[in-house]
Amino acid sequence: MKNIVLFASGSGSNVENIVQYFHENSEVNISAVLTNKAQAKVLDRCNRLNINGLYFNRNSFYKTDCVLNILKTFKPDLIVLAGFLWKVPENLIANFPNKIVNIHPALLPKYGGKGMYGDNVHKAVRANNETETGITIHYVNENYDEGAIIRQVKTSVSEDDTPETIAHKVHQMEYEYFPKVIAQILEVE
Ligand code: GRF
Repeated sequence: MKNIVLFASGSGSNVENIVQYFHENSEVNISAVLTNKAQAKVLDRCNRLNINGLYFNRNSFYKTDCVLNILKTFKPDLIVLAGFLWKVPENLIANFPNKIVNIHPALLPKYGGKGMYGDNVHKAVRANNETETGITIHYVNENYDEGAIIRQVKTSVSEDDTPETIAHKVHQMEYEYFPKVIAQILEVE
């Protein structure tokens, strides 16, 4: 059995997509979804999907080993950041080397780093008249969006594209590729 723990800060559409993708896979267990936002919509999705949803605050993430100890109880084979906006602390990186992955809605290293998330990314891609964008799935290290790249998928950006149409295209790519890459990493496909 391969255990996955998911982290999210917002809506959680990627979380739901990943949970649904592995729903019929008897080799994969979604142990829990952890969030740093008490009101995150992802917790509503957890209730509807009947999966564990846990909220944690800054103290338990950065000042103590609370979240680390909870993670250890799940014995995760992979920790998946799916729209998680906080930097991962050193104690997690050190305890789960090469076991934490993230998806970023752009072609890193461009449009990455602090503050580059959600529509901020797509507005910047539009403003810079980029002709392509895409998704980057990468291992997580102690800096935002800097770990080794696992998979990048590109799509074209036309002059007619708006930040909204770019976001829609990128979200569709996230839903298509993220679960498949996770399955490849866990060798459960
Ligand atoms: C996605 O665009 C993902 O690439 C980024 O955060 C967003 C999360 O969206 N890391 P959702 O909460 O999964 O809908």
